[in-house]
Amino acid sequence: MFDLLVKGGTLPDGAVADIGITGDRIAAVGRLDAEAAKVIDATGDLVSPPFVDPHFHMDATLSFGLPRVNASGTLLEGISLWGELRDIATVEELVDRAVTYCDWAVSMGLLAIRTHVDTTPDHLRGVEAMLEVKRRVAPYLDLQLVAFPQDGLYRTKTGRQNVLRALDMGVDVVGGIPHFERTMEEGAESLRDLGRMAAERGLMWDVHCDETDDPMSRHVETMAREVTRHGLGGRAAGSHLTSMHSMDNYYVSKLLPLIAEAGMTAIPNPLINITLQGRHDTYPKRRGLTRVKEMQAMGISVGWGQDCVLDPWYSLGTADMLDVAFMGLHVAQMTHPAEMARCFTMVTETNARIMNLPDYGLRPGCLASLVVLDAGSPTEALRLRPDRLAVVSKGKLVAERRRNDARLSLAGRPQSVRRRLPGPG
Ligand code: FE2
Repeated sequence: MFDLLVKGGTLPDGAVADIGITGDRIAAVGRLDAEAAKVIDATGDLVSPPFVDPHFHMDATLSFGLPRVNASGTLLEGISLWGELRDIATVEELVDRAVTYCDWAVSMGLLAIRTHVDTTPDHLRGVEAMLEVKRRVAPYLDLQLVAFPQDGLYRTKTGRQNVLRALDMGVDVVGGIPHFERTMEEGAESLRDLGRMAAERGLMWDVHCDETDDPMSRHVETMAREVTRHGLGGRAAGSHLTSMHSMDNYYVSKLLPLIAEAGMTAIPNPLINITLQGRHDTYPKRRGLTRVKEMQAMGISVGWGQDCVLDPWYSLGTADMLDVAFMGLHVAQMTHPAEMARCFTMVTETNARIMNLPDYGLRPGCLASLVVLDAGSPTEALRLRPDRLAVVSKGKLVAERRRNDARLSLAGRPQSVRRRLPGPG
């Protein structure tokens, strides 16, 4: 007797299995002939572990147009706009917007998010607000908070002190933004400082590293050196790494082995990188996405992050990690079937590994969190970005949706009109 039974779903590896859930854990996976208090019929649908977003800015989300829109569309105007907004937004407003976003996320099957929190202003209202959000959503959504000195660790008088204050308040992860410090040397020093801070406190480390089109920006190699020095390995992540798009190929042939040696992970953010990078270019215009396939070929874990939804940097977004993977697939040209399947894994298992989430997956003993998608396979899910028919978090059904009415209205028409392929996609 299970509390919840998900019947007949297709798992990401193509196997068809029932999943029996007791309490907040997966109790059994296979052909299960058992009673359950509640049954979800997932026959013909994809059943996946939940989506995971390892890079987001929840203190800024859903603020699009406040105090005005980003007219140039650049990263720098976005930072400047945010600098105004963060000093006029109240804790209540920040909490309301973030909790609304968390509702969107849950409806999309996105159940774990790492969010950077700006620690620049001395009032630290963003930190206070995000700690409150983390507490509120904890029963159904896992939040990791990163102490993020948006204006630089050393560029403001209290930048360093405020990162330490945020960590003392309970923020989980050490951040950084070396390319925004005043000089290359101060950027490198910030990495030495922050890496030591993470190691001494036993915390994870996630740096906005070289989010620039400057091919000479060299902070990724310094970060890799510090990760190796402190043995942080997979507890450290380099976010964005967009300078690697523009770097000289010979230099990259030296850099990639250093990243692999460090064991650190990488988080490109394709929706934002394709939008913000290359803004100073005429033509040809650079894409600005880091070297995803090349890093993966070196054994480096690379996940896709979302970064922004409706904020000073990005005017769209729906909390759908399939949109993120879809854009990443295109920009990185990951069109081989094996690469498309990997893009789905990047927004599920790989991102969970990057965030060091415990007990993630669809095996007995794992946390009972999963999503049922109106698709036959991971590749079909990427093609359709379909409805999430059911979302289960820690053993509880937290979102449910009827099959797309448009699809139902086509039921009487020839099969070829339907968007889904007949049989497994
Ligand atoms: Fe970011």
